[in-house]
Amino acid sequence: MPRTPMVVRTVPALRRAVDGLRARKATVALVPTMGALHDGHVSLVRIARRRARKVVVSIFVNPTQFAPTEDFGSYPRTWKADVEKLTAEGVELIWYPELKAMYPDGFATKIVPEGPATVGLEDRFRPHFFGGVATVVAKLFTQVRPDVAIFGEKDFQQLRVVTQMARDLDLGVKVIGSRTVRERDGLAMSSRNVYLSADERKVAPELHRAMKESARRLREGADVRSAIAAGETIIKQAGFDLDYLDVRHAETLQPIAALKDGPMRILVAARLGTTRLIDNIAV
Ligand code: PAF
Repeated sequence: MPRTPMVVRTVPALRRAVDGLRARKATVALVPTMGALHDGHVSLVRIARRRARKVVVSIFVNPTQFAPTEDFGSYPRTWKADVEKLTAEGVELIWYPELKAMYPDGFATKIVPEGPATVGLEDRFRPHFFGGVATVVAKLFTQVRPDVAIFGEKDFQQLRVVTQMARDLDLGVKVIGSRTVRERDGLAMSSRNVYLSADERKVAPELHRAMKESARRLREGADVRSAIAAGETIIKQAGFDLDYLDVRHAETLQPIAALKDGPMRILVAARLGTTRLIDNIAV
């Protein structure tokens, strides 16, 4: 029977617990999450296990990355099921900070990421988002001091922002990206998929199909504009409100004109009813 992970809620308790894990120089991996864990998170935990001796998972729904109009209040919180999943994976420690452990009274410091955080994708539609993510992730890194941290590629711009920040600030953490886990019909797994109605759930995989169609055209030599237009048509016909469908350089996230100019990534964000979905694929 696997042992339930230790759960800590304050920074001093976390420090003591991580020191304990590090006994005999064991390496530590961190998987930062907001809970509502699904198979995508489980795959991050499995990669963490391969990369380090001990695995810490953080669960914190971070208020500073939500705008007042967004779903902070209704974001799914599934603590009991999360602990069961992490127990089954043999995770050693869950960092489940109280709000005040992350944002004590008088908290007044913020990381303002640039570079990949200001390329006109998610940042254009959620201008508060990457400041909130970078600040909380910097805190998680300095609190846990992991050797490696695993992030899903589904939030591709976030992965680039966090990678850049860890490098720029010498945080001493190797950031590892992990392949997006999909449902059988292609929909990327996301904690927010639970918001979809039955009818929306049927339509949601069209986002992946649209990106694949754009990617196919690009590989066959189509220019970026027409390849993207083909994808946009699929998305709009399926009933989405499209925020963006774009092709970018996979490392810099800057616009890219042709496959010969570097690795390409197609990124999309679109709304089905009140649910906003994001996704991306390599070309
Ligand atoms: O991707 C997420 O779940 C969150 O943005 C993260 C990285 C845990 C920061 O709150």
